[in-house]
Amino acid sequence: MSATIRTQVAIVGAGPAGLTLAGLLARAGIESVVLENRSREYVEQRIRAGLLEQGTVEVLDGAGVGERMHREGIVHHGLHLQFAGERHRIPLSDLAAGRNIVIYGQTEVVKDLIQARLQAGLPLRFEVDDVSVHEIDSERPRVRFTHEGAPFELECDVIAGCDGFHGVCRPAIEKQLQVFSRDYPFAWLGILAAVPPSSEELVYVHHDRGFALLSLRSPERSRLYLQVPADERLEAWPDERIWEELQRRVALDGWTLAEGAVLEKGITGMRSFVVEPMAHGRLFLAGDSAHIVPPTGAKGLNLAVADVTVLADALIDWYASGNAAGLAGYSETCLRRVWRAEHFSYWMTSMLHRLGDDPFDLQIQLSQLRYLVSSEAAARTLAENYVGLPVNHSALAPR
Ligand code: APR
Ligand code: PHB
Repeated sequence: MSATIRTQVAIVGAGPAGLTLAGLLARAGIESVVLENRSREYVEQRIRAGLLEQGTVEVLDGAGVGERMHREGIVHHGLHLQFAGERHRIPLSDLAAGRNIVIYGQTEVVKDLIQARLQAGLPLRFEVDDVSVHEIDSERPRVRFTHEGAPFELECDVIAGCDGFHGVCRPAIEKQLQVFSRDYPFAWLGILAAVPPSSEELVYVHHDRGFALLSLRSPERSRLYLQVPADERLEAWPDERIWEELQRRVALDGWTLAEGAVLEKGITGMRSFVVEPMAHGRLFLAGDSAHIVPPTGAKGLNLAVADVTVLADALIDWYASGNAAGLAGYSETCLRRVWRAEHFSYWMTSMLHRLGDDPFDLQIQLSQLRYLVSSEAAARTLAENYVGLPVNHSALAPR
C-alpha cells in the first residue's frame, strides 16, 4: 500500500521551471509539491548558462528570490560581435527601449529558489525514484513515486511536467504530440576559469576555425566556449589546448585574453526541439521538457521561466474564479514565444558557427554580420530578441 498525499499542483522536476513555478504559486497561496529525482547537491552543482533577460529578472523578483541576484548579478547593456578580425559593439539597451540583461548563473538561481522553498518549510523532495504520471485525462490526476524505499501517490488537480528533456512527463503524452527538431553537427566545449573576464561585455566570435564565446560569471570568473565537432571527446581537450584554441579564435590587435586555472569543463550538444501542444488533459509541460534551443543566445532558462509564468497566471485565475481560459490557452500562448526564441537561437547559431567547407555559407554569414553592425534596423532586431520580449508582449498574442 502506498501513502497518499494530497496537493493542488504536483510539480515534477526541480530545475528552474519547476522551482520558479512552485515559488510563484506559493506567493499566490496555491499549494504544490515538488519532486526531483536527483540530490540537492547534484542540482546545485550543475553548470548551465547564466544570462537572464530583464523579464526573467522581474519574474524571479515576483517569486521572492531577487535579493542575491540583484546584489551579485552584473547588468549588461551591450555585447560584441567579432568577425574578420574586428570587434563591433551592439548597444543592446539603446536599441531595445532601455532593456538590459543580467549575468547571473542558472546554478545560483536554482540555489536561491531551493533555499527559499526549504526556508518556508514547503514540500520539495529530492532523490525520489520511479516517478510516473496517471489519469491525466481525469479531474484527479496522480503522480506515483518512491522515496527512501517507500511508495507514495500524490493526488492533485494538475501536474506540471518540469522534468527537462529526459524526463517522464513528455513521454507519457507522446502519442498526442507533434515533434519538430533539428540537430547540429557541432557542440560547445565550455570552461569556467579562475580569471577576471578580459572583456567586460560578452563577445561572440565568428572565426574560420569555428565559433568562440567570451562570457563570465563574476568579476573573478570567466566562462568561455569553443565550437567543437558534435562527437568530440573531452579527453581530446587538455587545458593547454583549450587556451591555445581560444587565443587563436578570439585574437584581436591591441587586446589579450588572460588565462587562468580551469575549474570546470564540459561538452554540450546542440539541438532545436519543440513539441506541440505543450499540454494534454491535466498535464502541462514547461521548460526543457517541451522545448530545447541551442545555447547561442542563452534562451533556455528564459523560456522555462516564461512558460511557468504563463502557467502560474492561468492556475491563479482558475483557482480564484474557475476561469479555465488561461489553462486552455497555455500551449498557444507559450508556443508564440518558444518559436520566436527557436528562430532566434537557430539564426544566431547558423550565423556564427563554422557550418562546413562551403564558401557560399561563409559569404552569407559575413554579409549578415556586416549588415548587423552597419544597419540600425538589423542591430535592433538582434537587440530586441536578445534582451527578450516583455513577458506579456502583444507579439505573443494568440495566433
Ligand atoms: N522525476 C523527477 N525529476 C526529474 C525526472 C523524473 N523522472 N527527470 C528529470 N528530472 C529533473 C532533473 O533532474 C532536473 O533537475 O527535472 C529537472 C529539470 O530541470 P532542467 O533540465 O534544468 O530543465 P528546466 O527546469 O526546464 O530548465 C530549463 O535548464 O536545461 C537547462 O538549458 C536549459 O537553461 C535551460 C533550463
Ligand atoms: C553563458 O554565460 O553561459 C552564456 C552566455 C551567452 C550565451 C550562451 C551562454 O549566448
